[in-house]
Amino acid sequence: MRHLLGTEGIDPADAVAILDTAAGLKQSLEGREVRKLPTLRGRTVITMFYENSTRTRVSFEIAGKWMSADVVNVSSSGSSVSKGESLRDTALTLAAAGADCVVVRHPASGAAHRLAGWLKDVGTSVVNAGDGMHEHPTQALLDAATLRERLAGGDATGQDLRDRRIAIVGDVLHSRVARSNVHLLTALGAHVTLVAPPTLLPTGVGAWPVTVSHDLDAELPSQDAVMLLRVQAERMHGGFFPSAREYSIAYGLNERRLGLLPEHAVVLHPGPMLRGMEIASSVADSPRAAITEQVRNGVHVRMAVLYHLLAHEEENA
Ligand code: CP
Repeated sequence: MRHLLGTEGIDPADAVAILDTAAGLKQSLEGREVRKLPTLRGRTVITMFYENSTRTRVSFEIAGKWMSADVVNVSSSGSSVSKGESLRDTALTLAAAGADCVVVRHPASGAAHRLAGWLKDVGTSVVNAGDGMHEHPTQALLDAATLRERLAGGDATGQDLRDRRIAIVGDVLHSRVARSNVHLLTALGAHVTLVAPPTLLPTGVGAWPVTVSHDLDAELPSQDAVMLLRVQAERMHGGFFPSAREYSIAYGLNERRLGLLPEHAVVLHPGPMLRGMEIASSVADSPRAAITEQVRNGVHVRMAVLYHLLAHEEENA
């Protein structure tokens, strides 16, 4: 694997290999006083974020550092991007400076693919850390890692999600998290139901390998997991629902709705979450929710991705 640009068309064996590596890394690091592996010593990872981020950026930095890579963070506001330098020139500059891997977040859908094209002759790997409304593959992988762990009740290595039922709820239209999860979870054999108002579903969703519903109460009793999406106000130009209160009444996960889920079902949210709108605070903070586990697993999944891109082939050779 040279790049990780998306989960559309991902080989399930590749996805499982990353998830198993992440679970193995998590096991091997747990309880250690010094969380440092020598695996990527001498490698340089550059994160390049053109959009705000807390979880993704921090966990890529920690992942690289825990594997002994040199990690450099570049943001559009503090770099020559603010002087008008193009994405292509910035990418070629970072590759020339010695990047073995560029982790990119960008508001334009397709930006990571463009970057991979420009860097094809220089040997630098590209990881898509979220491109517009298109994909966020490492988020989907960390969600799958969390589901494997929670639904398996412990050791996630080798567990699969075949025939598990997962509802993805809310602003599907603007969500790269939803798209990457649909591709990955269905590739792993899960059944995905999208629950959203008609205004927050993409045109063409009928061709996706999912069930579509507008009735959250009706779907909850049959789910193994419910994944709430952030309402992405920054991508909305117009009224997609009457008010935050009405959205919450129809699609928010509150205590009453938590009671409709089976006992074993797990609640996920990629964050940042809008408490009181997408999810009640009492639900977000309940033991049924795996939101902080998602963040923790994000570090191990991103370690696994860097390992598969930068060290795996070398070790095999
Ligand atoms: N889930 C996610 O991508 O969060 P950040 O925007 O904080 O990275």
